[in-house]
Amino acid sequence: MTAPLSILAIIGSPRNEESYTYKVIRQIEEKMQAIQPTEVEYIFLGKLLVPFCDGCLSCVNIGEEACPEYSTIGPIAEKMDKADGIILGAPVHTFNVTGLMKNFVEYFMYKRNRPSFFSKKAIVTATASGGGHKVVLDFLEGTATAWGCDVVSRLGISSAQMIKPRYQELVDQYTQETADDFIAAINRGGLDRVKFKHLVNFRAMQNMTRRQKGSKNYAYWQERDWLDAAFYTKAPASPFAKFLAGYISKRMRRAIRKGNVTPYR
Ligand SMILES: Cc1cc2nc3c(=O)[nH]c(=O)nc-3n(C[C@H](O)[C@H](O)[C@H](O)COP(=O)(O)O)c2cc1C
Repeated sequence: MTAPLSILAIIGSPRNEESYTYKVIRQIEEKMQAIQPTEVEYIFLGKLLVPFCDGCLSCVNIGEEACPEYSTIGPIAEKMDKADGIILGAPVHTFNVTGLMKNFVEYFMYKRNRPSFFSKKAIVTATASGGGHKVVLDFLEGTATAWGCDVVSRLGISSAQMIKPRYQELVDQYTQETADDFIAAINRGGLDRVKFKHLVNFRAMQNMTRRQKGSKNYAYWQERDWLDAAFYTKAPASPFAKFLAGYISKRMRRAIRKGNVTPYR
């Protein structure tokens, strides 16, 4: 008998088990269970009790073990590493991601610099009473992708609509499709197709890391032959997108070299 799929779900709502974020992910879990044995472990960020990230950047510069909160963050990183799939779910608060989720993700800044979750599949969900899903879904997708994951599905729910039978039917349908896609992607394995924006993000990280000779990040990138690569992995990507990302990367480097970088407004 094969082992059940192991999924780690990070719940970024302060309302924990009461939240629609949790309830919708539970619906996805039930549908996954109906397809294939699946074990979902829930991490409620509202119960984690980590302080605000103090911005010391020890995780990036020295190593993740140097984080003052490593005793809490380290075991979660290990669980994410071992899981077949990851779910990041957060409500929309003030048209953005919750502070809880943002703070949690800050503890994983090192994973953006030294990604490792390649070929691990992820899904992301957002819950708003009305609107703001896109900002949160984009943030969660961008985060999981920056860690190396393939994000295979996004789902945004409006909690104010959940009392309406027609809306519930749609949520039922969408959670089913999410469960189908998630399980299919995990079973398929391998590396999914890379989008243009991910190639550009890679180039931005590459340009930054090239200037950090002697650092932990530089050594990590050097060991993996990423310093002159077009992407972290051999994941399929459009040759034109690769070419364009390479061109943009050169322009970025030239602007930095010439001191042409201007402040934003
Ligand atoms: C501080 C705060 C800010 C909120 N901001 C928004 C918002 O910008 N847009 C929106 O549609 N709903 C907003 N809401 C409503 C929540 O998104 C809604 O209650 C949702 O169901 C929360 O998700 P949860 O049930 O998973 O906790 C806000 C709620 C709180 C507490």
